[in-house]
Amino acid sequence: MRKKVFVTRKIPEEGIQILSEHFDVEIFPKKRPISKEEILVGAKGCDGLLPLLTDTIDAEIMDETGVKAIANMAVGYDNIDIKAATERKLPVCNTPGVLTDATADLTFALILSVSRRIVEADKYLREGKFVGWDPMLCLGGDFKEKTLGIIGFGRIGNAVARRALGFGINILYHSRVRYKNEEKELGVKYASLDELLERSDYVSIHTPHTSDTHHLIGENELKKMKPTSYLINTSRGKIIDEDKLVSALKDGEIAGAGLDVYYNEPAVHPGLIELPNVILLPHIGSASLGTRTKMATMAASNLKDALLGKIPKNIVNPEIYQ
Ligand code: DGY
Repeated sequence: MRKKVFVTRKIPEEGIQILSEHFDVEIFPKKRPISKEEILVGAKGCDGLLPLLTDTIDAEIMDETGVKAIANMAVGYDNIDIKAATERKLPVCNTPGVLTDATADLTFALILSVSRRIVEADKYLREGKFVGWDPMLCLGGDFKEKTLGIIGFGRIGNAVARRALGFGINILYHSRVRYKNEEKELGVKYASLDELLERSDYVSIHTPHTSDTHHLIGENELKKMKPTSYLINTSRGKIIDEDKLVSALKDGEIAGAGLDVYYNEPAVHPGLIELPNVILLPHIGSASLGTRTKMATMAASNLKDALLGKIPKNIVNPEIYQ
């Protein structure tokens, strides 16, 4: 009998094709994130589960549905209780690498847009306020010889650094480990978190959300940033204490922020919505057609391998196979 898999949302067809060749595939049909109750019903009796970063996969879902493998369609997997999965010897997979460039591109779009006030300027023009070139209109931040501080120097942080080099900006990074080769190759310099915050004109977050990085950027950290600096986050909302960010933006402790992710996604802090010096995007870091297709095929291949008894390439808890 063919195994059954449950996909929690419509994903690019190429991913579904990989699954359909081997398994019976059920897809949650609604155009909104699935609820926990709906996962419990939909995945009940299925062998494999392909969730999204919007789906919290906890021990109850693992036990009640009886799934044997989980392949998240995201590089981040803070939506899945990895400890519970490992205890149950359930393989959990993610989609690293394929979204690096798209996310680094969007990070740069945010850096440029927030500092050069692109959204504000577009609105100004559409409102009919553009009456002629004005030497004082929409003055924003500079790049050349300024400093970009990258927190988390994995694949995406590294790709952001490579893009930044073209702008003639100096680069600091903070990470759990030193990247000596990149220091030589790219000229990036390691800094403590405090030093990075104090010296950077742009601070961009590229670390995963874990218990160690939860609220990594709070009141004290925001106070260390320059009043002319910008904070960019395309990683996970819970890395920033959002209440404190709103206060820092309102009080002029920092100049602006570009955000793609939020503390209580999809809810956005009402204080952020009101502020003109913030650009708010609906978690679209990886949203290019090519990237989402690769994420879907990678997640599907991971699930296929796990269910066919192979060790999937992108396993996040390989210890279950020891
Ligand atoms: C991920 O894969 O974790 C990203 O946040 C999706 O854009």
